[in-house]
Amino acid sequence: MLAIHSITKTYEAKPVLSDITLRVNRGESLGVIGESGSGKSTLAKIVLGLTSVDKGEVIFQGVHLHDLKGKSLKNFRRHVQIVFQDPTSSLNPKLPVWKSVIEPLENYPEVVPSFLKEVRHDKKQMAGMLFNQVGLSQTLIEKFPHQLSGGQKQRIAIARAISLQPALLICDEPTSSLDVSVQAQILNLLKQLKQELGMSIIFISHDLAAVQFMCEEIAVLKDGELLETFPTEEIFSVKRHDYTKKLVEMAL
Ligand SMILES: Nc1ncnc2c1ncn2[C@@H]1O[C@H](COP(=O)(O)OP(=O)(O)OP(=O)(O)O)[C@@H](O)[C@H]1O
Ligand SMILES: [Mg+2]
Repeated sequence: MLAIHSITKTYEAKPVLSDITLRVNRGESLGVIGESGSGKSTLAKIVLGLTSVDKGEVIFQGVHLHDLKGKSLKNFRRHVQIVFQDPTSSLNPKLPVWKSVIEPLENYPEVVPSFLKEVRHDKKQMAGMLFNQVGLSQTLIEKFPHQLSGGQKQRIAIARAISLQPALLICDEPTSSLDVSVQAQILNLLKQLKQELGMSIIFISHDLAAVQFMCEEIAVLKDGELLETFPTEEIFSVKRHDYTKKLVEMAL
């Protein structure tokens, strides 16, 4: 579904990603782990088409990202959405949250996600359906972001990100800003949505347990280099890279 081929990115002559090759299969999750500064968010920005690369390519559903223009670029943007660490950053503080949730749908009036078929004519009903989808009470629909908890805001950000039924959802540390008890709820929600909507996920996290829970495959980044990629069930294998073993040990 998504192939990242031999990507290299430099910021101010400093290599941030070196020769990264990865694939994400349809309906599957790829976990990306690595310490702070290893290049995880840069990789996310490159896949979203927000940052250029020095070398290499991103191929989405068989098409090179740098070849996309006009309509096909807009279609790509519909299909690749992101959830950030800090939900506040993706919500407009001046809008009641239901309006933030349906904003992407307003930008794509021709898109009718399967779970919104019956209500596509009515913006508030669409917001209501999306609230249902992410387990939020309808009583919160008129609230503003500052009136909601961190977990509620992250659910809103997720509702917005899935509103166009994307093929790929990138989650960049989606639970790092939340209380531990809320983290588990959000992970369960993401996993459930992945199954219901058949989305692929790139799940970026420091939290190895979360990555194990969410992902079929794990990629380990260190200082911009991809050390290894392996199926999640092989995380404890003796074949693992020494650095991965260290991460596993630290998480125990
Ligand atoms: N716009 C930029 N200009 C210059 N350097 C940048 C820029 N964005 C990122 N970097 C550098 O690239 C490296 C990788 O940053 P990135 O944000 O991708 O790391 P990360 O793995 O997401 O870290 P964290 O876990 O802290 O979020 C860092 O050294 C960072 O300082
Ligand atoms: Mg980051």
